[in-house]
Amino acid sequence: MLENSTCHRHRRRLTTSGTETGVPAKGDFIQTVLRSGFPPPTMAVRVGVLGATGAVGQRLIQLLDPHPDFEIAALTASDSSAGKPYQEAAKWRADSPIPADVATMTVGATEPDAVPTDVDLLFSSLPSSIGAAVEPDFCEAGYVVSSNSSNARMAEDVPLVIPEVNADHLDLLEVQQDTRGWDGALIKNPNCSTITFVPTLAALAEYGLERVHVATLQAVSGAGYDGVTSMEIIDNAIPHIGSEEEKLETESKKLLGTFDGASLEHHEVEVGASCNRIPTIDGHLENVWLETTQSVTPDAAAEALEAYPGLDLHSSPDPLIHVFDDPSRPQPRLDRGLGNGMAVSVGGIRSSTFGLQYNCLAHNTVRGAAGASVLNGELLLENGYL
Ligand SMILES: NC(=O)c1ccc[n+]([C@@H]2O[C@H](COP(=O)([O-])OP(=O)(O)OC[C@H]3O[C@@H](n4cnc5c(N)ncnc54)[C@H](OP(=O)(O)O)[C@@H]3O)[C@@H](O)[C@H]2O)c1
Repeated sequence: MLENSTCHRHRRRLTTSGTETGVPAKGDFIQTVLRSGFPPPTMAVRVGVLGATGAVGQRLIQLLDPHPDFEIAALTASDSSAGKPYQEAAKWRADSPIPADVATMTVGATEPDAVPTDVDLLFSSLPSSIGAAVEPDFCEAGYVVSSNSSNARMAEDVPLVIPEVNADHLDLLEVQQDTRGWDGALIKNPNCSTITFVPTLAALAEYGLERVHVATLQAVSGAGYDGVTSMEIIDNAIPHIGSEEEKLETESKKLLGTFDGASLEHHEVEVGASCNRIPTIDGHLENVWLETTQSVTPDAAAEALEAYPGLDLHSSPDPLIHVFDDPSRPQPRLDRGLGNGMAVSVGGIRSSTFGLQYNCLAHNTVRGAAGASVLNGELLLENGYL
């Protein structure tokens, strides 16, 4: 099981404009109750999962049932699953039982007419070719879609968001609604390997990001259940993951870019990536070499990484970044569960010929996929988009 993190110290809290405020005091809540005579309503937002039977879909169900803000009201998959009870359609492989209320839900077709109209938010974990075909239809039909799939991540009017890094990019949704005329909206989380190293760059950005080299050691779950066969990966490493390098190189610059209220300017940092598949189940480990404009010592880097704040959102861990003194950590099996699978961990920080060198790790199907979408859903809710 993953470690549970409920402690939220030193958090940033965002308003719709993305500015920082203090967390409301308990007294504010009591005044609200006294003025109205009733406690404020606490209705959960009804949500659906597109691609609910897959590896990421199952993680989404684990994270959403239960969830304080969201209630699962619709599940969809391919035509071969539609019409079946979820427990029959899904080959459940997650490390906790299928929630009883989800097990008996009927899987629907992945089309807007098959999703109840009182569902506000859809988490999408569809293959990207299917996402590209159907996500715009859902947005046009008025649904807000928080998607894992790689389609449209680099579109100019689609926010690509890691809430702790670039929550202000969410307001790109206003540009999106103007340009596309959708009643709904589309927000993306980045690729699982991008999510692992970009928070560390954000934490070190004050030193001036100039050039990054990153080599990944990626777990097999990142390829989905049918992605890599045991005969291919046991006793092996595969030094190629289709289109992965390009995703790390482009998505990182978009995430670290600047949004001026109308358009997004990508960061100028140069990023070079090399991606490898290794026989771990979950948790992407990455080796990073970072060149900065100002020199940074390993101690100063460790301090900046540890101090980088999380958010006051249910799924944002505290601390966001764990720093290990032990140079043999982080390790996938030991450290992927930190912060309920939502933390990034860093170790082996040292000065090298090519600038600062360190290793980082995140759980690829939680922080890198399902948890990232859920956190984006929490951000949408917090900022009034639901
Ligand atoms: N795994 C990761 O760590 C990870 C990380 C980041 C992003 N992602 C992205 O998340 C997405 C899902 O990945 P995954 O690993 O969960 O894949 P997966 O295990 O293969 O699951 C795919 C899901 O999509 C459904 N689906 C397939 N074809 C469909 C169609 N024609 N119409 C409607 N639904 C269809 C499947 O339903 P059936 O069961 O009915 O076939 C299943 O629910 C991908 O875009 C992937 O790139 C994955």
